Amino acid sequence: MYRKLIEPLLFSLTIERAHRIVLLLLRVMGLIPGGRWLLHRCYGVSHPVLEREVFGIRFPNPIGLAAGFDRNGEAVREFGALGFGFVEIGTVTPRPQEGNPRPRVFRLPKDHAIVNRIGIANRGLDATVRYLRRGHEGVILGCNIGKNTDTPAAQAPADYLKLFRSLYQYADYFTVNISCDNACHDARTYTKEHLLEILNPLFDFRRGQSDYRPIMLKISPDLTDCEIDTVTEVLTSSPLDGIVATNGSHACRRGLQTSRESLDKIGSGRLSGPPLTQRAVEIVRRIHALSGGTYPIIGSGGVMTPEDALAMLEAGADLVQVYTGYVYNGPEFVRTICDALIAAETRKACRIDKESPAAEAASGSPASPGTESPESPQPDTPTAESAPDTPATTA
Ligand SMILES: Cc1cc2nc3c(=O)[nH]c(=O)nc-3n(C[C@H](O)[C@H](O)[C@H](O)COP(=O)(O)O)c2cc1C
Repeated sequence: MYRKLIEPLLFSLTIERAHRIVLLLLRVMGLIPGGRWLLHRCYGVSHPVLEREVFGIRFPNPIGLAAGFDRNGEAVREFGALGFGFVEIGTVTPRPQEGNPRPRVFRLPKDHAIVNRIGIANRGLDATVRYLRRGHEGVILGCNIGKNTDTPAAQAPADYLKLFRSLYQYADYFTVNISCDNACHDARTYTKEHLLEILNPLFDFRRGQSDYRPIMLKISPDLTDCEIDTVTEVLTSSPLDGIVATNGSHACRRGLQTSRESLDKIGSGRLSGPPLTQRAVEIVRRIHALSGGTYPIIGSGGVMTPEDALAMLEAGADLVQVYTGYVYNGPEFVRTICDALIAAETRKACRIDKESPAAEAASGSPASPGTESPESPQPDTPTAESAPDTPATTA
């Protein structure tokens, strides 16, 4: 039904209008008795191997909705019902802001990509609090926070602190977004001094609270290696909990199928989707290696297939977020990825079993990695419902 009816309709509309309709439909589903249950029946997935503990929080699965989709926190419970292991709302700013003039979001269908220059349009802190007061019933909620566009740089820390204090009781974790256009990336953005100016007041506030809320920092994929190293140093030398890598890119425009003429017509904006896949994985791998693999990383950027999600996790991400992949693949995307993760974990568990001393003794020869014969029985590729229990991997 989605593929035949809803998707063609949504893709015939501008992407912002389609997005509005999706949020509206989800909220209607949330109001209908049994609506969320139905969504979960159709698209939800649960299996012990998907569960993992990251920064002290138990996630039902590692696939989250990236920031920008539910900017005001209108449909958190509904996205949870659609199978997401967590939902990151925002970017929320203290005051509401309109963002840039429309059109400001564009599909690049030939590349399965999106260009956006929304400029953090959102309804502001008060409206978000009103939405979040309704509760989010077991859905893990991240709040992505940013400064208002017209807030001078010197007052930026006050904007972040205001959001952090006011949303503290509603969120399970926070993401400090310094990578968006309104916090514009100049030479100072990724200096240790600047980052700590924003982060230190948040750490101070958190010290006075009885409940701990992890703080993540979201970075741009356009950073130089040197800037990535600085961010990692902040991670390892301050109470910062982890990194969300990455946002959309202003730079990754080489090799696109979309014509130069169309791109010129669209103009500036952050590109997301496949052009980002490789760079986002590289950045995750670099931060993971530099930080000794002990700090949480949320991988975001160009996750368009289950293989992309697996590559992100293998590069060192503990959790993965999707945006553009969800737009192009539709609501089954989370379950498709989760089924692939279950299958991968099951294969891994079977390999470990085969290589165990007991299995070696039974076969009479030591099993060596990579010697599995093509004829050897392969484990079934189970679906979420049918997979056997295997130990959950914890990040
Ligand atoms: C239309 C659109 C709006 C976005 N808005 C935000 C935002 O407000 N805050 C933010 O941190 N990231 C925002 N993002 C970035 C996404 O959260 C994500 O990090 C990025 O798109 C890369 O992931 P993807 O390739 O899966 O889309 C937005 C992305 C898109 C496409």
